[in-house]
Formats: sequence, structure tokens, C-alpha cells
Amino acid sequence: MLDDIRAGTLGGCVVVWDLDLSRSRSCETARMKMDAVEHELQSIFLVSGRSALENVQAWAFGARVLITRHRAPAELPAQLGQLVAAAVTAALKLTVATLDNAFSALALNKPISHPQILRSASFLVDAVNDVGISGWLDQAWEIDELTSQHCVMVAGVVAGYALHLGLPSRDVLDLTCAAILHDIGKAKVPLSILNKPGKLNDEERAIIESHPRTGWNCLRRQGFGDSRVLDAILHHHEYLDGSGYPDGLCGDEVTDFARIITLCDIFSALLERRPYKPPRDPDVALEIMRAMHGKIDQDLFREFSRFVSLTFPRQSREIAAV
Ligand SMILES: [Fe+2]
Ligand SMILES: [Fe+2]
Repeated sequence: MLDDIRAGTLGGCVVVWDLDLSRSRSCETARMKMDAVEHELQSIFLVSGRSALENVQAWAFGARVLITRHRAPAELPAQLGQLVAAAVTAALKLTVATLDNAFSALALNKPISHPQILRSASFLVDAVNDVGISGWLDQAWEIDELTSQHCVMVAGVVAGYALHLGLPSRDVLDLTCAAILHDIGKAKVPLSILNKPGKLNDEERAIIESHPRTGWNCLRRQGFGDSRVLDAILHHHEYLDGSGYPDGLCGDEVTDFARIITLCDIFSALLERRPYKPPRDPDVALEIMRAMHGKIDQDLFREFSRFVSLTFPRQSREIAAV
């Protein structure tokens, strides 16, 4: 932090600038810091309230809100809350648009935009960092299209869990990209099968179970992403006891990335309302997952249970005893 500038972010969506806009050195340094940020932040500027020129400069810097410095203790919390909520809504809309574009592109055998996926994942991680999983899921429930809603939920849970685990930021971002795209192969599955309310027959089940390889194949052919992301997309339905698909992998053959996506995918699917099943509470979902002890990673599940109990404290009073 430089001597004449104070700036603080709330997680990553909003930055509060407290600097002397009459000093050119402060302005230059602020500009450099803004340019170094990978994506657009919502900015609040603290100003003296005595200079119209100062206000004009703050707006020119891209301020969303100006607060007179001496009123900041009273006004800042509410303004921060509003901007964070707006940033979360924007991140959610961006993720939905990214998914729409990616699913449409894959269905038409066109390229998927890797930069858009990365940008969307970056916004999503910041949003989840700011408001937690509950805040993210509260907005995700409003998405009408079921597959899109599912991918948005899984990506939010993955981002929150990866942050909870304290993983390096590159891993958090790559896991979130993998989560956004994990079901992209469903773009090739007919909606009549995808949303069928009743039991699937063998042929329909085989089509559904082709989606991990379909997504992996399409992305690989496009030269998309790193191998960890691709592997997680291909193997997010594998179980450690070899009973999963598409490759029936066992134990160490399943990567950590795939194990994390699998946990969050199962949890999110249990929470969701579907034509063929009611939504489950988080503690009920954990109970169902606890019975899958041969199939999912027990160390990761123990920490996941702790994460869920912190995220949904009212519903989840028990931490998994595994
Ligand atoms: Fe899937
Ligand atoms: Fe899924």
C-alpha cells in the first residue's frame, strides 16, 4: 500500500479508494493499480466534499459511488452491500450467458470461447468469496433452465469449497472453469431424455452417460484448457470403487480435481428440484453422501461436510463423522 493511497477490497468485487485526488502522484498510482486488475471492479471513492473538481476526477476514474469522507462510517456499509449484491447478480448473469453460449456452440460444433469461460469463472469466484455459497445459491434458484441452473450451482459450490480448502488461486480458477463446463456434453443430449420425469430405459441411460466423454472430446478437439480441467470434465461421474462411468476408474486413477467436482456435483444435484425428485436439505444431502463411503474421497468429504456446516449452519448441525 502506498503512503498516500488507501484502498481495500471486499473479497474482490468492490474496491474502496481513499486518496487525495488533487495530487497527481496519487492519481497515477491509482491508475496503475486499476490497470493491474484483471477485471472490472465496482469502485467507491471517498472524497472531501469540498471540491467539484475532485468529484469529476473520481467519476473519471470510474467511480460508481462517491461518499464524503466524514460520512463514510455511517454510509459505507450500506453502499458496499448494494454494490456487492449488484456484482453478484452481474457475475451470475455472466455465468448464465457463458453457459448459453458454450452449450449453443457445442451443439453446433462451433468453438467455445476459453477467455469468456475464464472471465466468468473469475467473476464467480470473487462473488462467492464476497457473499458465500448461500448468497450465490439464493440467486441461482431463480434460473429457469435446469441444466444451466445446475452448472451455476455446481460452479458456485466448487468455488466456495476450493476457497474453503485454501487452494492456490490458479487451482480455484481452473476448478471453477471445470465446474462451469462439467456437463457441457449434455448439449448433445435430447431435452426429452435430459428432462424426462420417469425412469430412463437402457438406451436413454447410455445416451445420458455419454455426456462426460462427449464434452471432453469436443473441448479436446478445440485445444481447450489444461489437462486437469479436461480430465475433471471426463471423469466427474467416476467412483473410487470402480462403479462409475465412463471409464470405471478405481482409487488413485481418479484425480483430485475430478474428486472435488464429483463431490460438489452430487451435493448440488441433491439440493435441486427436478421433475423426478424433490429437493433435499443440505444436512439430508450430506447424510445421503455419507452412505457413499466406498465411492467418494473420505478426506475430501469430511472437509466438505465441515464446509457445508459452516455455509448452512441452521440446516447442517452435524459435521460428518467419517
Ligand atoms: Fe454430469
Ligand atoms: Fe452435473
